[in-house]
Amino acid sequence: MKLAVIPGDGIGTEVTAEAVKVLDAVLPGIEKTEFDFGAERYLRTNDLLTDADVAALREHDAILLGAIGDPRKVAPGVLERGLLLPLRFALDHHVNLRPSRLYPGERSPLAEPGEIDFVVVREGTEGLYTGNGGAIRVGTPHEVATETSMNTRFGVERVVRDAFERAAARRNKLTLVHKTNVLVNGGGLWQRTVTEVSRDYPGVEVDYCHIDAAMIYLVDNPSRFDVIVTDNLFGDIITDLAGAVTGGIGTAASGNIDASGTNPSMFEPVHGSAPDIAGQQLADPTAAILSAVLLLRHLGHEAEAVRVEDAVESFLSNRGEDEMSTPEIGDAIVAAL
Ligand code: NAD
Ligand code: IPM
Ligand code: MN
Repeated sequence: MKLAVIPGDGIGTEVTAEAVKVLDAVLPGIEKTEFDFGAERYLRTNDLLTDADVAALREHDAILLGAIGDPRKVAPGVLERGLLLPLRFALDHHVNLRPSRLYPGERSPLAEPGEIDFVVVREGTEGLYTGNGGAIRVGTPHEVATETSMNTRFGVERVVRDAFERAAARRNKLTLVHKTNVLVNGGGLWQRTVTEVSRDYPGVEVDYCHIDAAMIYLVDNPSRFDVIVTDNLFGDIITDLAGAVTGGIGTAASGNIDASGTNPSMFEPVHGSAPDIAGQQLADPTAAILSAVLLLRHLGHEAEAVRVEDAVESFLSNRGEDEMSTPEIGDAIVAAL
């Protein structure tokens, strides 16, 4: 396996080191290339994501990423819009896969969480993220600012099909989450596409929730969800809440997948660089380690993926009340392998 590693900013570097430790323990001989993308390189060279960077990444089977963005050093948006999103766009990561599971031993803040085991299939290349829009008369009383959500039939259909495939392999339920009562153009396209594609999956039950109501159900009755399909921004918001209800954002994993297999897919925790705790080895590396599980599974190393997932489960069910440092958690998971 040729693996590109982008530790990135803040706790990204700390949690990625643990994920690499676990990968090395379970699958010896991975050939790794480290890329120093992030705030430091940007401040040094002014580079965000260059064509040479993308070409070099394409030489790899997969990418492991920590987090990008450091509001302490670089204005919000510069690295996110200039580096992280261009990575996802250049490598056509249209399926942003974000599984949510309450593992045995994990504590949910919900009083009665029940079984939580669902997958959010978030569209990764369109919606409000494409940078369509602008601002005029900035800083004046007459300022006008727009961001336009772009939804294409091609882009929506490919992610909806992927979500139906996943539902058919799971509990046969797909929920579209959108805001079709207000966003009638994009919402209409998503709704019609789901209805049309559902004809190819007669065994999958189709459900719909508006985004606001979906937030109620995620807290009241998260067991109702199996596969959620949604657009880029709604998927971003849903998956932070999903992380919180399943024991914390420190265990929420994700994969940015080019389902066509043309480009390497990229695996990263759902969380960011957490400037509030960076540099102290306080971050939970479990999300990064579970992202490595998604990476192993994506590349067909199913046995190794299961071994790491079992080790994480066993760690979570046996961990005591004591605070553990980032490397202590990584070591404990390696020991549980
Ligand atoms: P964040 O996810 O970094 O942090 C939110 C809260 O969760 C913080 O209190 C943080 O301490 C806590 N947290 C996050 N990960 C944790 C972990 N592994 N263990 C324990 N606690 C954890 O979100 P933010 O503060 O809004 O963003 C910080 C920066 O990260 C911003 O620049 C943002 O743009 C960027 N960001 C990047 C990514 C990414 O690279 N995929 C994702 C989200 C945010
Ligand atoms: C995430 C992050 C990113 C997103 C930001 C940093 C651009 O919040 O990966 O969830 O919105 O996709
Ligand atoms: Mn997010």
